[in-house]
Amino acid sequence: MRGNTIKAGSKIPAHIAIIMDGNGRWAKKRLMPRSFGHKAGMERMVGLIERAFALGVDYVSVYALSTENLLRPKEELDGLYDLIRAHFLPYMRKICEKGARVRILGDISLLPCDVQEILKQAEKETEGFSGKGVQIALAYGGRAEIVRAARRAASIYASEPEKLDEPAFEALLYTGELPAPDLLIRTGGEIRLSNFLLWQAAYAELYFTRKLFPDFTNGDLEKALVWFGERTRRFGKTDEQLRR
Ligand code: FPP
Repeated sequence: MRGNTIKAGSKIPAHIAIIMDGNGRWAKKRLMPRSFGHKAGMERMVGLIERAFALGVDYVSVYALSTENLLRPKEELDGLYDLIRAHFLPYMRKICEKGARVRILGDISLLPCDVQEILKQAEKETEGFSGKGVQIALAYGGRAEIVRAARRAASIYASEPEKLDEPAFEALLYTGELPAPDLLIRTGGEIRLSNFLLWQAAYAELYFTRKLFPDFTNGDLEKALVWFGERTRRFGKTDEQLRR
């Protein structure tokens, strides 16, 4: 059996993205409401981000609510908003106490006003921090993000479109100045991106696991990092070119 231990000198991704799927099924298995699963998921999210930072990862982006999820029953959405109201700031302060910056990715104008204020407060409290970052995607859709960036590009580059190249476009995404994710993890058994970081994940290594998100332990994260360390990232080149 393969070891789960990250060896000294092994490649650690600078940026990990996580699709935190399976909270609802995890709760259902326990005959509990979906909000119970989301609460367990939020606690796991905090533990994983802390562990990732301790292992040398610089950026962690998590998919907490997609634009499509906004169509879920009001009761479930209210449960998620209540979780943010009760726990978001204390958790973010704990995660960021060593100097990480919080960024919210998504159209938060679609969320209740008091929730928007909490999210902005977390960003404001940490805006002076750099080097490490936690990105929380809420009311987020990858296609909507690209359309938003295209609109911004159309106005900025209207008179000189030839100046709009890939780095210039990338800078207009929510993730602006961040490196692209190296590793994207999806829990819950589905093998798809579900509109998460569509542009940014172009060269991410994709790691899928059947584990439901609240069951995805720090040890499972380390297993994913060991797997990542064994990948050869060619970015379109041949092995021979990489050896040069
Ligand atoms: C998808 O699983 C998960 C979500 C829609 C919510 C993810 C939210 C958290 C992990 C915690 C909350 C964090 C913040 C920052 C608010 P699902 O519920 O669709 O699971 P299922 O596929 O089993 O139904």
